[in-house]
Amino acid sequence: MIPESFIQELKYRTDIEQVISSYVQLKRRGRNLTGLCPFHSEKSPSFTVYPENQSFYCFGCGAGGDAITFIRKIENLDYVEAVKVLAQRAGMTVPDDGTDDRAARLRTRILEMNRAAAHFFYDRLNSPAGNVGLSYLRRRGLSDNTIKRFGLGYAPQSWDSLRDHLRSKGYTEEEMLVGALVVKGKRGSCYDLFRHRVIFPIIDLKGSVVGFGGRALEEGGPKYLNSPDTPVFKKSRNLFAMNFAKATKRRELILCEGYMDVIAVHQGGFDNGVATLGTALTAEQARLISQYTKEVVVAYDSDDPGQRAAKRAIGLFDDLGVKVRVLVVQGAKDPDEFIKKYGSQRFDMLLAQSANATEYGLNAIRSRYNLEEADGRIGFLREATGLLAEIQNPIERDVYASRLGVELGVEKGAILLQIDGERKRRARTKAKKEARELKIYTPGGGREGDPERARNIVYARAEEQLITLLVRNPDCYPQVAAKIRPEEFVTTVNRSIYQAVCSRLEAGLDVDLLSLSGQLEDRAIARLAGLINSPGAEAVTPDQADDCIEAILRHGRVKEEKEVVQMDDGQWAEYIRSTIAARKQNR
Ligand code: UTP
Ligand code: MN
Repeated sequence: MIPESFIQELKYRTDIEQVISSYVQLKRRGRNLTGLCPFHSEKSPSFTVYPENQSFYCFGCGAGGDAITFIRKIENLDYVEAVKVLAQRAGMTVPDDGTDDRAARLRTRILEMNRAAAHFFYDRLNSPAGNVGLSYLRRRGLSDNTIKRFGLGYAPQSWDSLRDHLRSKGYTEEEMLVGALVVKGKRGSCYDLFRHRVIFPIIDLKGSVVGFGGRALEEGGPKYLNSPDTPVFKKSRNLFAMNFAKATKRRELILCEGYMDVIAVHQGGFDNGVATLGTALTAEQARLISQYTKEVVVAYDSDDPGQRAAKRAIGLFDDLGVKVRVLVVQGAKDPDEFIKKYGSQRFDMLLAQSANATEYGLNAIRSRYNLEEADGRIGFLREATGLLAEIQNPIERDVYASRLGVELGVEKGAILLQIDGERKRRARTKAKKEARELKIYTPGGGREGDPERARNIVYARAEEQLITLLVRNPDCYPQVAAKIRPEEFVTTVNRSIYQAVCSRLEAGLDVDLLSLSGQLEDRAIARLAGLINSPGAEAVTPDQADDCIEAILRHGRVKEEKEVVQMDDGQWAEYIRSTIAARKQNR
């Protein structure tokens, strides 16, 4: 247990606005701040931060709570770990009471070890043995400056040089294994994962080395090897060079497929290039990008797989309201080759000309049909209307419909009708899908995903009013507590909130979210954050307490009445006896 006094100190030194703004771009709106929710995909901000009571709440997915809850959710930490993260920000040290922070310590160790490994690779690149790597990188057109900026390195042609180096620095084989720098052999000994490869350190937004990519210098074996997921690295959440690109002054980000492409793009003067790490773009990566920019240029390989991947990426960004342009590197395999062949000025022109997603998509569809034939025209039109149905702006849809109409000799109105039908159909499927997803993002959480609450909605509302009232006016506590006990609450989540609030008030302690965070489960904290920030919260006044209590207690009576009706004569007599006995006791 972390001492109460520590949590109070942490509370005074932590500003939720500052904490959250290192993860979410927030815009001020009156007293509050809003941004795109980091816990679900959305186009318009329903995520709100309330500096006044140091809480956050998302009206879209029901995620909510205090600064500790936020750090727990976003960094995937447990309560104690999250407190430590915040304490560190605030310049405090958590008193060590032997709580299990092994996981956090291990993560710190792995990050330090990764940094040591990056240094090792870098030093080797610049040693005689690394000449083979250095000359490879130079041959590929990288300047010494670029090599230094990206901290590129060389893993020697040896089974154990990194292992031995790290061992001499005090790291155990266990740590190396968990950090995925070594692999366990059949006979139980460990050997280096990266051998005879040039190394690309992967650096996260905080500047930590979280993993590595290694490119083979010779044929045979996989061309690129990437660190697998470790406690400090999730491939699906990181993007190569995002640590640089996040600071770009340019409006858009350029999304590439490979390490070398990004590096070439940066060397060419575009500090806004990023790449996925050996996998197709994930929804998490798209979301990360969408927090930094609303415009992406997809610059994938010009081959078929590259173009298919581009199409998938467009879909992901579309869900997030990010505008996508697609750059086709004509005359080259990929951006790296293009820049090498034609120079960065031509790449800049390519950027300027890159077609928007719709034009790009239409071109791709058109190329698959023979428009000389009626069948071809019909097929093209059918697919094209499907694509145009994705456009949100009606004027834009109109423009494309007329162009298509002219091209194919079809009435524009007919095309628009087709598009509208398709849009309606999709809106219905989308609504269904979103309803499903909400449940996934807020497991039993949010106010939406609680069937018990839904069944008892009248009582639940009264309970919630009472809780809101109590948290906002702790002075009412004695008056309320005398009339209703936690056991008399009807719904589980509200009961747990009321219980926690009462036990703190009973002990004369504050009932702000951060102090309650350690005692309540996620959905309770989220519910409470939603309650105290709901537009109606201010309208709840202490004189309503009795009405709320009355409404909640009615549940017990209604239940009793129902039961009484169903009693047989014997049960009825027993019931009368016991109620009379209870009344006597009360007197
Ligand atoms: P490419 O095969 O397009 O390589 O893979 P590239 O980027 O053009 O590499 P160079 O120019 O030959 O050096 C694109 C990306 O796919 C992942 C890597 O992240 C690479 O940057 N990849 C590729 C792997 O993870 N493993 C592989 O074996 C190949
Ligand atoms: Mn390449």
